[in-house]
Amino acid sequence: TIPVIIDCDPGIDDVMALTLAFAHPELDIKLITTEPGNQTQAKTIHNALAFTSYMKKDIEIARGLDNPFFRQLEIADEVHGDNGLGDVLFPQPTIQLSNRTAIEAMKETLLSSDEQIVLIATGPLTNVGALLLAHPEVKSKIKYISYMGGAAVGGNMTPTSEFNVYVDPHAADIVFRSGIPIIMSGLDVTHKAYVTKEELNQIEAIGTDFAQKVVQMLRFYVHAAKQTAFHEDDFESRIRLHDLCAVSYVLTPELFEGDDCYVAVELEGKLTAGTTVVDYEQRTGLPHNVKVLHTVHREKFVEQFLSAVQTMSRQ
Ligand code: BDR
Ligand code: CA
Repeated sequence: TIPVIIDCDPGIDDVMALTLAFAHPELDIKLITTEPGNQTQAKTIHNALAFTSYMKKDIEIARGLDNPFFRQLEIADEVHGDNGLGDVLFPQPTIQLSNRTAIEAMKETLLSSDEQIVLIATGPLTNVGALLLAHPEVKSKIKYISYMGGAAVGGNMTPTSEFNVYVDPHAADIVFRSGIPIIMSGLDVTHKAYVTKEELNQIEAIGTDFAQKVVQMLRFYVHAAKQTAFHEDDFESRIRLHDLCAVSYVLTPELFEGDDCYVAVELEGKLTAGTTVVDYEQRTGLPHNVKVLHTVHREKFVEQFLSAVQTMSRQ
């Protein structure tokens, strides 16, 4: 098994990523931590508790920091809805919130582990950045960070910045400079990690309450994406499951291709704050700190997701 900690901001694609992780017993989920991003802290923590309870998983869930390091919090309610899950309701959680904070829980879990742990991060990196600042001794316990965020080219918040990095660039900067190996599932690969409307119908055909909820969430998400996009005509047929890539990579790295590069986070740029600057051409001569993914075997990726929904439908 692969021991992992998942830091997330659920969030529609975050719960899809959790679904994939829950469906695979080869991932030993030691801890889930939450932070604001797609919605406020109160809502992301509620969603993590409610979703994990609904999936009948008994995993410690700890509350992270309430705000980005310096920036005013910006949420993505237009994409994820007022409750953060596209208005889909899960029963009240049966799991209690941990009495440890996310930072304490991450630190203690890492330091008490005999083996290195993979950190999967699918939100802004606020908690991970704070952990590394406060407790740098945990670094040697982190095998690598599988991170959804950033982009070598383009953005979904500004012309050059992706949402997760944009929300808390200062935290991302600390993580990218930490020396811990990072696998970056940025927009370069996540825009290729989509399900089609036809594939959504296949999920609907599973016929369970859970499959129905997945479809409802993804319909909300694709509709919202369409509303907020200016000129994209492919949104109707491409439902991008960004966060799923960060989990899928840990399970099946062979589905992905990427390049080792030096990557830095732009903090000050007038037009570019929150951008991941990817040195593809090795202009800086600085050592590679990130594997930047650019390609995914889409059919296999979708198959993996569909079978996870099927598996979790039986729980
Ligand atoms: C990222 O932003 C969030 O809205 C998603 O959950 C994902 O983590 C995509 O840019
Ligand atoms: Ca997310």
